[in-house]
Amino acid sequence: MMEFFDYFEQVYAERWPALLEALKGEGRAVELRFDGAAEPYYLDEASVFAAKTLSVEPGMAVLDMCAAPGGKSLILASMLKGEGSLQCNDRSPDRRIRLSHVLENSLPPEWRTNITVTGYDGVKFGLHKKESYDRILLDAPCSSDRHVLASPTHLAEWSSKRVKRLSVEQGSLLASACDALKPGGELVYGTCALAPLENDAVVAKILKKRPAMEIVQVEELPEGADRTELGVHVLPDRTHGCGPIYCAKLRKRDV
Ligand SMILES: C[S@@+](CC[C@H](N)C(=O)[O-])C[C@H]1O[C@@H](n2cnc3c(N)ncnc32)[C@H](O)[C@@H]1O
Repeated sequence: MMEFFDYFEQVYAERWPALLEALKGEGRAVELRFDGAAEPYYLDEASVFAAKTLSVEPGMAVLDMCAAPGGKSLILASMLKGEGSLQCNDRSPDRRIRLSHVLENSLPPEWRTNITVTGYDGVKFGLHKKESYDRILLDAPCSSDRHVLASPTHLAEWSSKRVKRLSVEQGSLLASACDALKPGGELVYGTCALAPLENDAVVAKILKKRPAMEIVQVEELPEGADRTELGVHVLPDRTHGCGPIYCAKLRKRDV
């Protein structure tokens, strides 16, 4: 159990005690209530920021590669306003049930007509849907450190090996997302992890493996968010409880 604390003390040094306290505290959710929707949805403010970073416009072909339970899909759908297409994909059948419920109940009917829910393994998109999407959100499976901290069982199971394993899985999903993106298209890679190995390191690797990809600077950051080498990290000690959310924006050069 100590491994978790030692690991992040090394990463965050003198910032760690305040960050740890903030991670144990209340998160900061905003209510998403769209006119005509049956139910509101509550989403961390930093998650809203990450989804909006994708700059979706009506008419675009959009993929949310790891979409369940669907909070960020709601933001993408609200940017499309029913025009274009939104594919909400998630490999987990259980989580897809929740995803379908969220889309059905927290969006107005006119924003749902262009949405499909699928259950593919995200790593397959690069092969089977090559250069098909204008925008892709890859909100990758990650360590979810805030949840780990809240659960003695998960805390006991945490290991730096698992972080490394997840980092490899995230890299495969990101490679697939790059290949599924149209030339000129943009993607956002995101996690709710604290470890740089799951964040900047995954993006740094893909920039080497996929030379057509380049970083797009995110202009407007939430108050207190940190710029990392390649992306943005929203951490709760400086944002009154928001996050953790990491995101990086990439474009595929139109050559
Ligand atoms: C961080 S959660 C996504 C949260 C979601 N974007 C939201 O805002 O509500 C990661 C999701 O990835 C899904 N997942 C994990 N591995 C996957 C894979 N190889 N292909 C597709 N989905 C995957 C998990 O089932 C999980 O629902």
